[in-house]
Amino acid sequence: MSSSSNAHPLWSSRFAFILAATGSAVGLGNIWKFPYITGENGGGAFVLVYLACILLIGIPVLIAETMLGRRGRQSPVGTMQKLTASEGASSWWRLIGWNGVIASFLVLSFYAVIGGWSLVYVGHAASGEFLGADTDAIGALFGGLLSSPGAMLFWHSLFMVLVVFIVARGVREGLEKAITWLMPLLFVLLLVLVGYAMTTGEFGRGVAFLFMPDFSSLTAEGVLVALGHAAFTLSIGIGVMMAYGSYLPDGVNIPKTALTIALLDVVVALLAGLAIFPVVFAEGLQAGEGPGLIFQTLPLAFGQMAGGGFFGTLFFILLAMAAVTSAISMLEPVVEWLEERKGISRLKGALLGGVTIWFVGIGTVLSFNIWADVHPLAFIPGFDGRNIFGIFDFMVSNLMMPLGGLAIALFAGWALRRETLDQELALQGSTRDLFLFVLRYVTPLGIAGVFLYNLLA
Ligand code: PHE
Ligand code: NA
Repeated sequence: MSSSSNAHPLWSSRFAFILAATGSAVGLGNIWKFPYITGENGGGAFVLVYLACILLIGIPVLIAETMLGRRGRQSPVGTMQKLTASEGASSWWRLIGWNGVIASFLVLSFYAVIGGWSLVYVGHAASGEFLGADTDAIGALFGGLLSSPGAMLFWHSLFMVLVVFIVARGVREGLEKAITWLMPLLFVLLLVLVGYAMTTGEFGRGVAFLFMPDFSSLTAEGVLVALGHAAFTLSIGIGVMMAYGSYLPDGVNIPKTALTIALLDVVVALLAGLAIFPVVFAEGLQAGEGPGLIFQTLPLAFGQMAGGGFFGTLFFILLAMAAVTSAISMLEPVVEWLEERKGISRLKGALLGGVTIWFVGIGTVLSFNIWADVHPLAFIPGFDGRNIFGIFDFMVSNLMMPLGGLAIALFAGWALRRETLDQELALQGSTRDLFLFVLRYVTPLGIAGVFLYNLLA
């Protein structure tokens, strides 16, 4: 981002924004979360619903949210305040901004813990611990991490320090450069992993698991999880893309940009799935293993492939970096808001936000060991059986992000003046009509439909 002379700095170019937004979108959601929730929800049918949600809900909301951010040029809270005033819309829409600041705070609290796991695995890979290890040894390695709150807390803290440091320094320039080589490299390493998966003898079964829909294995909650993940993976509904959009120069083609980002994001997730499930089947592991899935499968792959020590180390470094570039985007709405509202410096905002989020994250650390079976909200229907990590993940990914997306689609589609929308998006003819139709009807009814289905099922 270049610090131009006006009050609100801008990204240096469309490309810089694509990099930053892709850096936000591609992360643990693609490589860690997508495979494990796909495994938990039975595969193909879940993937199909997820892809439909990306297309009909994710992309339109990504376009709308970025556009609102650019129009408002403030933090999500400030942007919504400004836009409701200038568009003559109800001040209720401002909840979109608040939902964003609160949800991005919560999401970072657990994301940083998993980010810590990826840091630990850089060390494991580099020390050669994967080489020749069997499923038991790899399982024990992961189990050892989970059962040690002290170790998890250490790596979680280190991850947060990295994130706060980058956000505080505002070292976007360096970051933009880092992402230019991070993404292609990550892509290559995923291809290496897919190549290995092809040699396991179970590649076909992995492909079938991912792409052959069996709707009998998909529950109503599975549909909600697919919707939630479409939002999670594109970083939408919680003000992150609004915050990033606020730095986007006028004249950049938002729809085209959003399509590029979504395509990259989906490809990374599908490659991760193709790399992981053949290994799951070849090694007789459980697809529904849960949050540990990639940490129990990929080390096996690295342990057996030629050059696995090198590839494994590089892979976990890239995973950690992808997690960092997403995590800094989560801190952005919080810091932008603190700067704007509380008038405090970027450094203080990043520190204050970071420390508070880190503290809340301890609840997630303990959710994998001593508080694993503590279910604080068990008295609320739908929250029984969820520990603190489960509650945060469910609230943010499956409630706040999709509902934030719903509100954004409704606001952009119905409350914004048509001239404003046309000016910002510069779509023409039937493309414009189609987009408007999707944004006004398909997206909101799709989200509402998933919620209704869950309430009634
Ligand atoms: N999209 C990121 C991922 O897939 C996660 C994220 C969620 C980032 C919400 C920002 C906001 O890893
Ligand atoms: Na993603």
